[in-house]
Amino acid sequence: MNYLDRNEFNFEPSQKVIDAIKNFDPKDLCFYTRIFDQGKKSVISVRLSEIYGVPEDQVLLAYGGEDLLKNAVHYFLAQGDNRTILLPQFSWWYYNRVASECGGTYEMYPLHETEDTFAYDVEEVIEYTNRIHPRMLLLASPNNPTGNSLTPSEVGRIMENIPDDVIVLIDEAYASFITTDTAYIAPLVEKYANLIISRTLSKFYGLPGLRVGFGFIGKGHDQFCSYVNKYLGFNRFSEAVALAALDSDEHYRQVADDMEWGRQLYKRELGNLPGFKVYRSSANFILIKYPVEMKDELLKALTVQDYKIKFMADKGLESCLRITLGRKEQTQTVCDTIKRLASRYN
Ligand SMILES: Cc1ncc(COP(=O)(O)O)c(C=O)c1O
Repeated sequence: MNYLDRNEFNFEPSQKVIDAIKNFDPKDLCFYTRIFDQGKKSVISVRLSEIYGVPEDQVLLAYGGEDLLKNAVHYFLAQGDNRTILLPQFSWWYYNRVASECGGTYEMYPLHETEDTFAYDVEEVIEYTNRIHPRMLLLASPNNPTGNSLTPSEVGRIMENIPDDVIVLIDEAYASFITTDTAYIAPLVEKYANLIISRTLSKFYGLPGLRVGFGFIGKGHDQFCSYVNKYLGFNRFSEAVALAALDSDEHYRQVADDMEWGRQLYKRELGNLPGFKVYRSSANFILIKYPVEMKDELLKALTVQDYKIKFMADKGLESCLRITLGRKEQTQTVCDTIKRLASRYN
């Protein structure tokens, strides 16, 4: 099956990752990690601290970005009376699910459809945050499913102009596909105590099955850090593989760069067809508006070829497809299939 529906990795892991798995000593699993004796949570957080220039005690580790988001939302929404989280209008469905799990409620701020994207309106996000005054503000950059991003200076502008008791959670699960810049993270978490930036090894590093997520938090959150922390240590197998992945940027950068071919193909082949719109993407997936009348036929045509893509059901995006950027032949097959069927609906 060709899974192009959940933004996974249809390429090869790096050689270092393969070697780390082959060379892993099973006996390491017979003991907990001893890194706690050095006052650190994991060899991964130590390495991330070096890479990102953020003190180790402000590095968060979790079983996937999912786990980090859940911990943050459950922890901060469960305290006090304010249990509101402010979310982007179109975003990952999981955000409001974790909020509702702990008795939270959500409000939404708009994203604005432009010629080729769904854009944040930074001033509007600031206005909504001041007016609603939620306990948490969620920003996703790049956002799933729309694929649009915020620049570091836009993040700074938001942080500067909202109340400092609002915890801002930036989900950067899809960061690194377009930009290599990570230098903005350390100054932001140094400056803003109310900021959490969440990342993962599942997307750029192509290891969703490993379940490693990480993040960075502003100063002074010892209690939350202790809440997220795994007292008896992190999964030691994951640690070995994660270190190898973090040491393989060249390999994963090449894969990410190759995805541009797919973005261009969809844009060129489908962008000008009647009823279609190909949105700009800074992630490993692309959002495409299509004539929804062809849904059943398209689903059937892809299924017989063993392909899965995501037919959006979110309110306002019902006539959109979200397609993971896979290997060239996969992208070509999906694009050809859509184009062939589209000719019947024009
Ligand atoms: C927007 C977004 N954030 C976070 C994640 C979490 O991924 P993981 O738990 O594998 O790190 C996903 C997964 O698809 C996602 O789409």
